[in-house]
Order: sequence, then structure tokens, then C-alpha cells
Amino acid sequence: MSETFLVLGGTGKTGRRVVARLQEAGHEVRAAARGGATRFDWQDESTWTAALTGARAVYVIPPTLPSQARQVVPQFVKRAVSAGVRRLVLLSARGIDAAGDEKLLTSERAVQESGAEWTIVRPTWFAQNFSEAFFLPQILEGVLAVPAGDGKEPFVDAEDIADVVAAALTGSGHNGKIYELSGPEALSFAEAAARIGAAAGREIRFIDLEGEAFVQGSVAAGVPEEHAGILLGLFTAIRNGWDAHLSTGVQDALGREPRDFDTYVRGSAETGVWAGTS
Ligand SMILES: NC(=O)c1ccc[n+]([C@@H]2O[C@H](COP(=O)([O-])OP(=O)(O)OC[C@H]3O[C@@H](n4cnc5c(N)ncnc54)[C@H](OP(=O)(O)O)[C@@H]3O)[C@@H](O)[C@H]2O)c1
Repeated sequence: MSETFLVLGGTGKTGRRVVARLQEAGHEVRAAARGGATRFDWQDESTWTAALTGARAVYVIPPTLPSQARQVVPQFVKRAVSAGVRRLVLLSARGIDAAGDEKLLTSERAVQESGAEWTIVRPTWFAQNFSEAFFLPQILEGVLAVPAGDGKEPFVDAEDIADVVAAALTGSGHNGKIYELSGPEALSFAEAAARIGAAAGREIRFIDLEGEAFVQGSVAAGVPEEHAGILLGLFTAIRNGWDAHLSTGVQDALGREPRDFDTYVRGSAETGVWAGTS
């Protein structure tokens, strides 16, 4: 029986960490993405077959835009199970029921009804958004401008997400589980900026942006309007205090506490990622 693992989004924040863990454990892993070692494109079904052939378990990261995900994730899941995949781990997100996020709700239903073993991972906002994604340019400019007010968010470390995903892909006891993951402490964006600034040795100001200005600025910077609207909805939930609660998915899946934000900040500062000039 093949022990090959397919990791979609294998070059992204959680995917590449999952790939590293599986490789370290001696498994055969396909890191799949448009720019990955295994070419995989949600928008080009011809890439799916080769990626799936011989795979035993798949880490599924849905495509970013709802208009794509609603159709393709259920199609992909069917194709995967037909190809012999027996275990699916899905990256979803916390708060999707309240937000009515049809992209992720449809993706969750697809894995739950697939006939394969499944685990759903619902993280809150990744800490690595500050060092590897959309907040990084603002951190480097010294101004974090988002429409979050003084709402708090318990940022989760992508290292913890990868630990949970790798355990669910390779271990036992995770079938049929939905793990909601958060860090151990809720912080406002002003507090997060201050801690990053202290570790990086530079001032990072927080500006509470008005929602419409955020959408316009994001679209001007090249973010698709649909995605900017989704982000505004997420920030509004944070502003209203709806996303500040802690979750126990890391503890439930791994039997240990999640990494805290200060540990993430220290480690990231040491890499020099925030060493730009403001
Ligand atoms: N970031 C957060 O705070 C957060 C929180 C909760 C949940 N999530 C969920 O996490 C998922 C990933 O979000 P992210 O932005 O954080 O991911 P990311 O780290 O930017 O990774 C995205 C991955 O998907 C690949 N990819 C992009 N477009 C693709 C396509 N058309 N076909 C195949 N692969 C493609 C990328 O590689 P290539 O570009 O090389 O293809 C990359 O490996 C989303 O579904 C989001 O809802 C994110």
C-alpha cells in the first residue's frame, strides 16, 4: 500500500510546514502548487490526476475565492476518493458558520460526505500574516492600517497548525474531528504591532482604518474586490469582539499548549524579516 501524501498549497504558510514535517518523518510527500515540485492548479483539472495518482492522504487547502472553491473542492474530493485517497485533512477557518462562508462550508461538507476518513482544521488568523503575508509590507513601512478597531484576535502560529495537520494525516484518533485552533492569548492589532516593533527595534504605528478606505486601498493594491470584501467582513467580526475567544484544538489534537505570540515574534525577529527601514 502506498504511503504517499499529497499536500496542496505545498509552498504556502501551512503547506510547506506540513511538507517539512512529513519529510522529516520519512514519508513520501508531493508538495503541490502552481509553483510547487508537483504542479497543481485548481483552475486546471488536467493537473489533478498526476498529483493524485498513488496518494493515500491529502491535505486540502481550498482556493482563495469563493466563486472558485464552491465548485472545485467537491469535484476534487470526488476525484481524490475515486483515485484511492483514504484520508482527507481540510484547512477551513474559525467562525465560518457565523460568517456564512459558503466556500468553506461547502468544502467541509464535501470532505465529511466523501466516504474517506476526514479531519477539519479551523484556525483563527495566522501569526505569520505579519511576517509571510499581507501585513508584512505595512510592518516594513512602520504603519499597520486595518479596520479592526481595538478588537482582539488570538493569532495562531502556523507551526501549530502544521503540527495538527501532520498528526491528522499520519496518526490515529483524528477521524471525524473538527479542530478549532487559536493561540493562547487574544491581542488587538495595536498590541500585536507594538510587540513586533519592540522585537524588531522599530516603531510600528497602528491606524484604525475606515472599512471603505480599506477596501479601496486593497483593490488599488491589486487585491480582487471579492477578496477585499471578505477581508472586511473578517475585520468587522474582530472589531465587534466576535473572534476574541480562545479555542482548544491544539490541546485537543496534540495534548499540549499552543505556542504564544511572543515566541513567534522573537523567532521571526531573529530571521531579520522585519529588518527593513521605515
Ligand atoms: N491566513 C490566515 O490568517 C488564515 C486563517 C484561517 C484560514 N485561512 C485559510 O487558509 C487558506 C490559505 O490561505 P493563505 O492565504 O494563508 O495561504 P498561503 O500561505 O498564501 O498559501 C496558498 C497556497 O496555495 C497555492 N495556490 C494559490 N493559488 C492556487 C491555485 N490556483 N491552484 C493551486 N494552488 C494555488 C499557493 O502556491 P502557488 O501560488 O505556487 O500556486 C500556496 O502554496 C485559505 O483557504 C484561508 O481561508 C487562512
